[in-house]
Amino acid sequence: MSEKHMLKGRSLLTLNDLSDEEMLWLVDFSAELKKRRLAGVRGDLLRRLNLAMVFEKNSTRTRCAAAVAAADEGGRTEYLSSRETHLGKKESVADTAQVLGRMFDGIFFRGFKQQTVKLLAEHSGVPVWNGLTDEAHPTQILADLLTIKEFFGTLAGLKVAYVGDGRNNVANSLMTGCAKAGVDYVNGTPVELAPDEALVNRCREIARGNGSSVNVVYDPLEAVAGANVVYTDVWVSMGEEDQQDERIRLLKPFQVNMELMKATGNLEQGKVIFLHCLPAFHDKNTDVSRDSGPLEVTDDVFCAPWSKVFDEAENRMHTIKAMFVATLTGVTEV
Ligand code: CP
Ligand code: NVA
Repeated sequence: MSEKHMLKGRSLLTLNDLSDEEMLWLVDFSAELKKRRLAGVRGDLLRRLNLAMVFEKNSTRTRCAAAVAAADEGGRTEYLSSRETHLGKKESVADTAQVLGRMFDGIFFRGFKQQTVKLLAEHSGVPVWNGLTDEAHPTQILADLLTIKEFFGTLAGLKVAYVGDGRNNVANSLMTGCAKAGVDYVNGTPVELAPDEALVNRCREIARGNGSSVNVVYDPLEAVAGANVVYTDVWVSMGEEDQQDERIRLLKPFQVNMELMKATGNLEQGKVIFLHCLPAFHDKNTDVSRDSGPLEVTDDVFCAPWSKVFDEAENRMHTIKAMFVATLTGVTEV
């Protein structure tokens, strides 16, 4: 039995819950589902399946991607905001997990602690998917890998430079995903925001097995040299809002602007794209950036033709759909 058939019943709490081959297969399966949807097919791969969406933090993309992915294929989602449920307040996570597991076919969780999503998986008896915690954002990286592969036609051998808050959830999962895909990964970040050393070492080992590398550097220009993908994220993640001033001070030199994109050496040859998981502060049209102007990325980069941020956002839906179908039904071909 090939590895791809073994995802049924499995959870996705970090990308390391998938073998390298399973992760790459899931990206390719997403591309198949995308083709199918663009051809106008709305099927019944998730027919009559009920998915609980337990969300402690806000979301636009992840929530909508899951809702549309399920509805497209005949399933349905129930949104449970932590403000309106007992989870972790009047009821332990383990008890809530058991209740949800007796009613729902799967649980999509977004929140703070990795331990919460772990407990949901341990006690619910159904597949649990991590839709972002403080530590990891695995479903985001599936979409990122699909977006990169769509543009370059390949993953292994490319170089991804992540520039910004080097120890947040997206940076952690991107490092893991690149290592598993055989993509060279460089994290350009201030020393104060360097990623966890143990995680870096684990990713280095995985990358070595796939013929690629993982590096952390403290100079943004050095980070992006030769990059095919320049990736950034907000400087202040959800739950860290009180650190805004300090983050702006530390990360200003790491802003992704035209000068940094040119420093890849790949802009003129069309061999570099810009990615951002979104939401982004690239202009003055948000509450946060109204006075400051662009933060982690400038508007000219964000709006450039080689910025693939909206393909990336769309791909959240196709990749989340693939994850639902593979882990709930075991279907591997469409
Ligand atoms: N990229 C992402 O997770 O977006 P949302 O916070 O809108 O879900
Ligand atoms: N690092 C960001 C990602 C948002 C999708 C956050 O956690 O807020």
